[in-house]
Amino acid sequence: MTDARRTPRVLSGIATTGTLHIGNYVGALSMWADEQDRYDNYFMIADLHALTIPENVQPDALRSRIREALALYVACGLDPSRSAIFRQSEVSAHATLAWILGCLTPVGWLERMTQYKSKSSTVTASAGLFTYPALQAADILLYQADFVPVGDDQRQHIEITRDIAQRFNHLFGEVFTLPESLIRKSGARIMGLDDPSIKMSKSLAGTRDGHAIGLLDPPDKIRRTVMRAVTDSGSKINPEQLSPGLNNLLVLFETLTGLSREVVLTKFAGQGYGVLKRELADVAIEKVGTVQARYRELREDDATLDAISAEGANKAKSVANATLQAAMCATGLR
Ligand code: TYM
Repeated sequence: MTDARRTPRVLSGIATTGTLHIGNYVGALSMWADEQDRYDNYFMIADLHALTIPENVQPDALRSRIREALALYVACGLDPSRSAIFRQSEVSAHATLAWILGCLTPVGWLERMTQYKSKSSTVTASAGLFTYPALQAADILLYQADFVPVGDDQRQHIEITRDIAQRFNHLFGEVFTLPESLIRKSGARIMGLDDPSIKMSKSLAGTRDGHAIGLLDPPDKIRRTVMRAVTDSGSKINPEQLSPGLNNLLVLFETLTGLSREVVLTKFAGQGYGVLKRELADVAIEKVGTVQARYRELREDDATLDAISAEGANKAKSVANATLQAAMCATGLR
């Protein structure tokens, strides 16, 4: 239940399923980092979620992705003294509450999830992929999070989390805070640079050249990707007629620089597409370069990374275990 006196709490996470890209940075990480002073912050590395597609799980790759994510969270500006940064699998309450919530989630709700429908059309669906929303609901509800800062694609997941919380509270008494999503106005859905009709995704970032700006890509690769980005058959920027590809480049430019759409359009109106692409490449290389410099330092300092994740897990456990106890008491398990 929400304690009116406490600082509003946020929880969010990224699944360790592939290469982190500029869409994850703009839609999630940068927003988490920028708002740290406003909230009581919990950011997890969603490593249990990575197991939902067993075909993609290679143990060594998963281990290294988890470490990579931890270092990238910090390199992107999450400050361990203001945010608990932890691995989901280190806090066992996630799996326990996921079971309890899964038991009161109607199958029909899970069948409606667009992520399940699209992923299960390409891989053999596991039970874990199907019940993924119950685990994500547990992630959020354990922390009594008021807000969940995410990109646009997670909207349905936050909605089902609210539905599950409401159902639990109705059946067993008020235990859970109903969370709200925090979705930025511009940049909540960065599209693929090779195909602006699809969302930039971690899986395609790892397999399709030109699809994404990876947070660990070298500068020449970033420049090539931006310069090759799909736009349209025009050549000069007309603010009245922006194709999806061009709009995506403008969104990236405005979110990475912090400039308003108005200022960006005035700057580029009438200019050739190449000018926008060159300037965007410069901005992206600089932004990603700063992240990478900090990332490299951290990757050479295992002790610091271990301390950050241990401290984060301790902080997370104390909140999560208290909520789990309350949920277990309410259901009669305790
Ligand atoms: P994931 O790992 O796919 O994405 C992590 C975050 O990045 C955002 N995002 C994007 N934002 C803008 N443009 C894009 N192209 C783009 N691609 C991804 C996502 O919206 C997300 O905020 N199920 C979640 C992970 C998760 C979680 C949670 C999130 C597990 N438990 C609890 C919040 C709360 C996922 O797979 O996100």
